Amino acid sequence: MEKSRQLLILYATETGNALDAAERIGREAERRGCPVRIVSLDEFDPSSLPSEKIVIFVVSTTGQGDTPNPMKAFWTYLLQRSLTRQWLENTDYAVFGLGDSGYQKYNFVAKKLDKRLADLGGTSIIERGLGDDQHPSGYEGALDPWMSSLWSVLYNENRQLFPKGLDISASDTRMLDQPKLHITYLDLDEVHLKSPAGIDDSLENGERALNIPIKLRRFVELTMDIASASPRRYFFEVMSFFATAEHEKERLQYFASPEGRDDLYQYNQKERRTVLEVLEDFPSVNMPFEWLVQLTPPLKTRAFSISSSPLVHPNQVHLTVSIVSWTTPFKRKRTGLCSNWLASLDPHQRVCIPAWFHKGSLPAPAPSLPLILIGPGTGCAPFRGFVEERALEASKSIPTSPILFFFGCRNEQNDFLYKDFWISHSQNGGVLSEEKGGGFYVAFSRDQPHKVYVQHKMKEQCVKIWDLLSKGAAVYVAGSSNNMPADVLAAFEEIVATEGGVSREDAVRWLRTLEKGGKYHVEAWA
Ligand SMILES: Cc1cc2nc3c(=O)[nH]c(=O)nc-3n(C[C@H](O)[C@H](O)[C@H](O)COP(=O)(O)OP(=O)(O)OC[C@H]3O[C@@H](n4cnc5c(N)ncnc54)[C@H](O)[C@@H]3O)c2cc1C
Ligand SMILES: Cc1cc2nc3c(=O)[nH]c(=O)nc-3n(C[C@H](O)[C@H](O)[C@H](O)COP(=O)(O)O)c2cc1C
Repeated sequence: MEKSRQLLILYATETGNALDAAERIGREAERRGCPVRIVSLDEFDPSSLPSEKIVIFVVSTTGQGDTPNPMKAFWTYLLQRSLTRQWLENTDYAVFGLGDSGYQKYNFVAKKLDKRLADLGGTSIIERGLGDDQHPSGYEGALDPWMSSLWSVLYNENRQLFPKGLDISASDTRMLDQPKLHITYLDLDEVHLKSPAGIDDSLENGERALNIPIKLRRFVELTMDIASASPRRYFFEVMSFFATAEHEKERLQYFASPEGRDDLYQYNQKERRTVLEVLEDFPSVNMPFEWLVQLTPPLKTRAFSISSSPLVHPNQVHLTVSIVSWTTPFKRKRTGLCSNWLASLDPHQRVCIPAWFHKGSLPAPAPSLPLILIGPGTGCAPFRGFVEERALEASKSIPTSPILFFFGCRNEQNDFLYKDFWISHSQNGGVLSEEKGGGFYVAFSRDQPHKVYVQHKMKEQCVKIWDLLSKGAAVYVAGSSNNMPADVLAAFEEIVATEGGVSREDAVRWLRTLEKGGKYHVEAWA
């Protein structure tokens, strides 16, 4: 197939949204008769990019404006100085980014990728699209109009790309592909006769199958999130094919259509409707199990910061987990799957929990580095490890620098996490004690008529903060991604401007230099 008559969709995802978006773009192109290849960036050879004619990039931003893991090697390749300004002169490209405008570096990866591709001579065929978690319909709010423009531009440039035309007929959207999975059901005694688990290479077209006999119930429990995560939009589209009651079919088709997008968002994501609940709401749907397996969101891993020092607690990992629960707009009580499961465990029983360890965005500080830590709520988790490690170092007469720690919670009585721990380290010459040049300050947001947050406590301690910054301190911020990181940064700007006697613009530049020098770290989560 000539490369000018097909689309290559390259995606990079951290938590799966960019893959969903890439698959949606792919499905829409295929419905117009255009063959597509959808490839994760870590499976793509970057040196072959110039030989591609049309490439659609779908990339999310993670960390603090960081590239998702599968994009790291590709991005390093793209930054090589040896690549010329004509390197991509034969390549047309489009970029769709997924991000959250609550973050300071909103859609940073899509923006920098777009710029770099243009610098390398690539031709941008359409202004980049920026999906935003804050939009009432999530990233799809931007994806729908962006895709419409994309199809028009591509069609106008090369009509052969879409043999079925630009506007697909209703019958095209009502055709369903085959599910990607094939499941073989075995009787229990057959399982023992069959070959052991392994890879089956005997399929056609070079396809391979993973052969693992497993009980159905166990399979569902281990892989499918049927009782917590909300299904994606495509789930509703596929359901509509298998609905036998006309009114259900119509409703599902509406949900899957661009017009129904916002209503679907309110019904599904906002209410955190689960796969089981959705299936219950549409009882006439008889979805084949293969489809259910393919479309049910996979059980995803949850991230928790390690809140213990490996030196103080060798072979142990402590977590500080907030038990998630909330009420939806329709007053339905929802609970977080993992935190509630952890909370339900009996501490006296040994339970094996699968765990993966990743380096986060908060590098372990050297003992000699002065620290300013801001960690309201469970944001204090990583700093518990920092403080106990520094206390251990101090007890071994290793020279240590002071720590200023700003903690925040609602009430002193209810959610003052590790109260005794912090207080003990802030007394008797401890690493947080004022006599050692450190300090421990708490903002109880609801213990008085007006709200008090960490940024208010920081401003009260502006002299100490500026003093420590002047001595080369590093800043670490952890916790809620809502407003906290931006409010904390604004407080730093104010402190640097007033205490350092510079303009606000200079203070902003000063903090940017601090960040570039690897001394301003943020790890925030929704
Ligand atoms: C790098 C990193 C480090 C983290 N460290 C910690 C830590 O140390 N301690 C800690 O407690 N958490 C931490 N988190 C956050 C934690 O990963 C999430 O809270 C996680 O989703 C909890 O898992 P769960 O299964 O209990 O909840 P889930 O089942 O995953 O449900 C959580 C989801 O529910 C939704 N939700 C939650 N509250 C509301 C609400 N009020 N309104 C609407 N929707 C809501 C959101 O979509 C949220 O993502 C960290 C996150 C990251 C990315
Ligand atoms: C830990 C974390 C860090 C994030 N950092 C940013 C960021 O710096 N800028 C941004 O625009 N969005 C940020 N986001 C939002 C994601 O980009 C957004 O949720 C996106 O839909 C995720 O897509 P993915 O599942 O393909 O990775 C962050 C999300 C998480 C969970």
